[in-house]
Order: sequence, then C-alpha cells, then structure tokens
Amino acid sequence: MKKTILAAASTILLLAGCAQKSEMDKFVDDLLSKMTIEEKIGQLNLHAAAGFISALKVTEEDENVKMLRAGQLGGLYGTSDVSYLTDIQKVALESGHGIPLIFGLDVIHGHETVMPIPLAMSTSWNMQLIEDATRIAAKEASAQGINWVFSPMVDIARDARWGRIAEGGGEDPYLGGEIAKAYVYGYQGRDGEYSDNDVLACVKHYALYGAAEAGRDYNTVNLGRQEILNGYMNPYKAAAQAGAGSYMSSFNEFEGIPATMNSYLMDDLLRKSWGFDGFIVSDATAVMEEVAHGIGDLQEVSARSLKAGLDMDMNSDGFVGTLKKSLDEGKVSKADIDRACRRILEAKYKLGLFEDPFKYLKPERNSTDVYTKENRDFSRKVAQECQVLLKNDGVLPLKKNAKIAVVGPLANDGSSMAGTWTMSSHAAESVTILQGIKDAVTNPANVSYAEGSWLFLDKELEENVKYGMIKTFMPDVPTPPLHTVPLERLISEAVSKARAADVVVACVGEIPAMNGEGSSRADISIPDAEVELLKALKATGKPIVLVLTTGRPLTLVWEDENMNAILNTWSEGSEAGHAIADVLFGDVNPSAKLTTSFPRMVGQLPLYYNHKNTGRPHPDYAPYKKFTSCYIDVVNAPLYPFGYGLSYTTFEYGEPKLSASEMSLDGNVKVSVDVKNTGSMDGKEIVQLYIHDIYATSTRPVKELKGFQKVDIKAGETKTVEFTLTSEDLSYYNHDLQWVCESGDFEIMVGPNSRDTKAVTLTVK
Ligand code: NOJ
Repeated sequence: MKKTILAAASTILLLAGCAQKSEMDKFVDDLLSKMTIEEKIGQLNLHAAAGFISALKVTEEDENVKMLRAGQLGGLYGTSDVSYLTDIQKVALESGHGIPLIFGLDVIHGHETVMPIPLAMSTSWNMQLIEDATRIAAKEASAQGINWVFSPMVDIARDARWGRIAEGGGEDPYLGGEIAKAYVYGYQGRDGEYSDNDVLACVKHYALYGAAEAGRDYNTVNLGRQEILNGYMNPYKAAAQAGAGSYMSSFNEFEGIPATMNSYLMDDLLRKSWGFDGFIVSDATAVMEEVAHGIGDLQEVSARSLKAGLDMDMNSDGFVGTLKKSLDEGKVSKADIDRACRRILEAKYKLGLFEDPFKYLKPERNSTDVYTKENRDFSRKVAQECQVLLKNDGVLPLKKNAKIAVVGPLANDGSSMAGTWTMSSHAAESVTILQGIKDAVTNPANVSYAEGSWLFLDKELEENVKYGMIKTFMPDVPTPPLHTVPLERLISEAVSKARAADVVVACVGEIPAMNGEGSSRADISIPDAEVELLKALKATGKPIVLVLTTGRPLTLVWEDENMNAILNTWSEGSEAGHAIADVLFGDVNPSAKLTTSFPRMVGQLPLYYNHKNTGRPHPDYAPYKKFTSCYIDVVNAPLYPFGYGLSYTTFEYGEPKLSASEMSLDGNVKVSVDVKNTGSMDGKEIVQLYIHDIYATSTRPVKELKGFQKVDIKAGETKTVEFTLTSEDLSYYNHDLQWVCESGDFEIMVGPNSRDTKAVTLTVK
C-alpha cells in the first residue's frame, strides 16, 4: 500500500496591496453604481484598431470612434501609433463617464527591438535573460502607448507540425512554468505596482491550444483532466502565481466545450483553484467562432461565455451586440455583467489609467526608450544564448581569415531573422547572417554570397506560403512573381562560390510565414528546393556549416548525416546576424539546449521526452521488435532529444549523489553532481535534474524535469551543482485529481540532456 500525502495547495501572491484594493473597491463600486447597463457591457468590448497596417486617424466616421461615443468600447488593440492612441483616448474621456481605454498589442518577442522568437529564448534556459529581454519589450511598448501585451504564450506543444510552437516555451511543463513567470515579471515588474515602464501581461492561450490534434491549428483538443493537470497546466498556473493580470482564452475546445465558454478551465481552475483575480479576454473572434463550433447562435454563445467566466470579447461584437437582450430574457444576470465589468475597471485602475489616462502616451519617450543601441545590444546578448549547436565535427568555430561562401535564400533576409509575430517597424532591418559574418571577419572581401535556391520546388506552394497573409487580407494587391530565376542557375552560382571558398555557410530553413499562427505543416523537413541546394553543395566536397533558421523542430536526418555542422539559430531578432557570427567564429561559446524533441520523421509526432512507458515498452534506440510499442521504419528516439545542445567545449558528469537515500513524505533531499569542463574553452552548461516515480497509483512519465541550473565552468574546472528536491517536486495529480506525493522509490537523474542521464535511487517513506 502506498502512503500518500496531500500536498498543500500553493498560495497565490496577490500583488496588489490590501490598502490599494480597498481604495480600488470603493472607486470601482462608485463608478459601477453610476454606469448604465449598456456602458457596462461596452467595457467588455475589445476591438482592433481600424487597420493593422494603414495609418490611423481619429475621425467621426471611424467605426471605433462611433462605438466609443456610444459607450460601446472598453479597449483597442493592434496599433502603437501614439498620436492616434492619444486622440482616441481623448474621445474616451469625453464620452459617458470618461472611462479610459486600455490599449493592447501583440508584443511577442520584443517590440521595436526584436528579441529572438519565444521558442528560441526558451532554449537559453536563462530565466533572468528572458525577464530582462521582456522588460525591454515592456519599456518600448509602454513608450508607444501600449499598456497591455498579449504575451506570454505558455501553451505546451508536443507536436512540431503546429506552427505556433514558435511562440511558446516548448514541451515541458516545469520549464514552461519557470519561463511563464519570467515573462510575467518582465512585463509587469515584481513589486505589484505598474510603473510607467510596466504593462499588463496577458497569458495565452488559455487553455491547451498547443495540444491541437495532429498539430493542425485551431483543431480539437482531446485530453483528460489528469493528463492536462500533470502535463500542460503548470505554465498557466505559474503565471497566475506570478501575478499575471489577464488571460486570453483559446480557440480550441476542451471536453466538448470551447475554451472560451469553459467554466472548468476559467472558473474552477484559474480563478477558484489558482486564485487568479484579473480578467479574461477571448482570443480574436473566438466568441463568434463558438457558433461554428456548433454551440448556438451569437446570443447563446455570448451568454454562455460570460457566465462561464469570460470578461471581454475580442472582435466578435457578441457581448456588445447581444448581452442586453440576454439580460432582458433572463439568460444572464446583472451580477454576471457587473462582475466582468468590475474586472476590466480594476485592471484599468491598477494600471493607473484613471489617475492619468495619458500615463503611457508620452511621445517623447520614443526617442529615448525605443530601438536604442542599448536595447539592440541586449538583443544581441540574448540571441547569443539562443543558438543550439546540433552537430559539429570540428569545423566550428570558423577562422576569421577563412574564405567563406555564404549561400542560401535566408542568408540575406532580415525579415526571416525577425521571425513570426513581430509588429516592429524595424523588423526587415534585422541584421542578416551575411552582414553579421562580413562585420566579423578580418577581410570582408573573403566573404562571397549567392542566393542559392528557391524555397519550394512547387511554385504554388511557395506562393501560398509567402503570400498567404496578403491573399487573405488584401486579395487585390498584386504580388511579385516567384521562381523568375531558374533553380539550376541559382544553384550553380552557389556551387561556384562554394568551390572557390574554404568553407560554406548554408543559410536555409523556414521563413517566418512558415511558422506561427495558421502555419501548420504536415511535412516538417527543410523546404525541398533548399535541400536541392544542400545536396549540390555537398557534392563540392567543401565543409558545410548549416545555419538553420526555423520556428519549429525540423526533421534533419539527411542533414545530420551530411553536414559538417548544424547551428540551429531559429529567428534571432534585430541583431541576429551579429549574434550568429559571434557563435560561428567562437567569440561566444554556444550554450543553448533544446526545449522540444526533434523527430526523425513526422510520423513520430507527437513526440516528447516525458512520455509514459506503456505495458509493452520498447527502448528508445532498439530496432524494430514486433508486439512492442515501436515503429517498423524508425526508432522511437528523437534525432535530438529534449535538453540537448552542444558546446565548443565538453563537459563530463560525475555520479549524482543524494544527501540521504531516504526522504519523508513531506521532506526534502539535496542532489549534487560534479560537472567538469574537459575541453579547452570556457563554457556554460545547463545541468538538468529529472525524476521518475517507479511505481505510483497512476502511471507516471519515464522522466520529468524538476530542476536545472545554467552554470559557467572554466576550461579544466569542476563545479559541484546542487539541487534541493522537495516532496512538491515528487508530487503529481492522481486519478482523483488530488495533488499527492506517494511513498516508494524514485529514480533521481542528472545529466546534460534528457537522454544521457545518470541515476540514483531515492526512497520516499
Ligand atoms: C489571434 C492570436 O491567436 C492571438 O495570439 C493574438 O494575441 C490575437 N489574435 C490578437 O492579435
């Protein structure tokens, strides 16, 4: 029989002080008592500013201005045009009770200064770095009128077909939780007050959006409660505990109910169980989309969403258009509307907007706080820590006096360096790989360049990828023709440059339109025209360094066999090219490690290291064996496992040691390991701690990350790395959904990645 302890529910740190709360309560009570029901419903309405792209002007014909004057708008999102935001804020103050608007924006990885995409940032495993990068984003966004950012995205993703894997922190719920906190602290600050540089975070997409079946965006989610609590929810919960001020509901359904009207997710878990006291906004048009989910007409779904705990409707006009009718018909109550309205007003109060509606509208800050050299330098520093060295036969680091052929369609492409979901007006100026290399070498004349290839052999596919956005939103805008230069010619130019060089740097992978929202892929290999280029380069016999730009794990079996080195650089932001050159030439020793498993074949997906054993387990690397859990045509193991990444130096791990081999159910134990830098270069190593509950009352994953430390270790030096493991780390949600620590034996594992660990046994009594 197992002995069990119910672990104490973790308490929420409510950041707003009590005094402030009571002042706020009085203020909001008073305001609510004066507002009409229509005005209250108006506060629950969020609209996009009239155009993401075109210049905005406040005119009486503008739909948003009309709605605002009629008291039908609580916030706007989608622009950081300060003069427009200032003018429309003035309209808000002239209307009704003069309630200021809240201004939101997708600030996903940096703002004007672009930081590496979130998946890249996660591979730094450096929480301070993420927090600091996010603080810069908050400072820049707040300098351009924004007080609310639609970030962080903390959706756990185990399926690389899903394009939005690029926007998150990978596949692990523990690491994802640490990352979620770093973002929230970065945006909101740590003191519970919103200074001029702090913005309200919006944790998304709540919940489980990353578990879309088959990796197809917006698709159904089919998971049980125990599985979500153990495998997916920790980042959302951690963000609440860090004091996140708002959440965005997701497009997908859970248990047959769209997340946007799912009271289990919004009310039972987020609010009641985790103590979240901010507001929840729907994703864009998600309320309206509940009609297509097959739940009811707009009135029905709006009423149900409100009742389930949704407070603000983004871009559906479901709340503003139908809630009054639902109130009259008794489908929602005045209390339902008041509750939601109160939460929006509280957020505005906490942000200080009632005190100063123009707090964030200071145009002079644009020149001092935005896209400064200091911010770009920091972006470079971040990007240096976000490059995963997947393979190196010794060709790296490169010599600065070598003759280098830089080839490939992504070599000279700033936008691809910026990556998906950026609204920076400087995105296309991001430093290219070609420029970065030229700036780093002793003589730029030794660097040659060729575009080398198209993306895809199929022109229509390439058009769909490149022009998907334009075709959707501006179908009449003509797009430049593609494939105008024959592929053979592009390749032969690249090959002749390669032949004349000592080494080739091949820059291929995904352009930003191939990942992010609405960009799921069923084939996650390097685009085929680029592979043609790689094959032709290989035939030259020259050493090739593959510099991979991507927003998701790709299948790289051929590349792993045929390239001399692979440096996975994702999309590294404003200073990408410089940071990549810093690593290529060894000025910086790469230290990033994967936060997602890289499959060999797309058919292995979903693929994640913390899987269960099954009743017929099959060792990861063992060949096919009938009637065990495996494939005929590929091993179970990923090509590159979670936590993996090379350095220019080598690290040797000793055996993990426990401070005691037994631990009580509510105790803790210290785990230590010696890590030696056995190479000749100083380096940073990410030491990872995993556990495995050998027998439990429910099945448990073969490995679960429970700690990590990124340590600097000098060449030849040995460092002892110590972790404290508590019963909280050994706990999980059992079949009755109770958070328990159970007695029994646990394997405690330490290593440089999820594959190469060394274990010791801990007995919990
Ligand atoms: C839809 C996306 O799913 C979400 O991430 C984003 O924040 C909103 N649109 C607003 O742009």
